[in-house]
Amino acid sequence: MERTLVIIKPDAVERGLIGEVLSRLERRGLKIIGLKMIQFDEDLAQRHYAVHKGKPFYEGLIRYITSAPSVVLVVEGVKAISAVRSTMGATDPVAAAPGTIRADLALETSRNLIHGSDGPETAAQEISLFFRDEELLDWSRNTDPWIFESNI
Ligand code: RTP
Ligand code: MG
Repeated sequence: MERTLVIIKPDAVERGLIGEVLSRLERRGLKIIGLKMIQFDEDLAQRHYAVHKGKPFYEGLIRYITSAPSVVLVVEGVKAISAVRSTMGATDPVAAAPGTIRADLALETSRNLIHGSDGPETAAQEISLFFRDEELLDWSRNTDPWIFESNI
């Protein structure tokens, strides 16, 4: 089982798409083990996006992520990191595969609705930026055996 961090970004919150995004992740079978609504401040935004500092889109990205509330969650599942990334679609929504969140609901890279960690190390580091250990629930879902073969 892997864990990964998802951010439902300010454009999704403003556009009333929290439920739509959560629903797509839930329907795929990913298990939510932590969830909260937050407002990014400048410091948190800079920490989360440190890897992009100096890039041409960095200032706009910080303005965007701090502009309205976000929803952050941790999901768990077999290959959860790739499962979330493939449900999200490519960074540029116009290039994203039809059926993905970004392709179906967005048009611009700088307004692409959702973030998902891109690897095991970034997932662990990003989760710890937003959640304390005790905020993540180690719960056994009754439907797990119908989603994860190893649970039967
Ligand atoms: P994310 O980190 O949000 O899951 O998205 P990603 O891996 O698909 O994209 P990444 O390259 O890590 O970029 C992080 C976020 O920065 C914004 N961005 N804007 N205007 C631009 O050229 C540009 N490039 C990146 C996007 O919000 C992207 O999700
Ligand atoms: Mg990224």
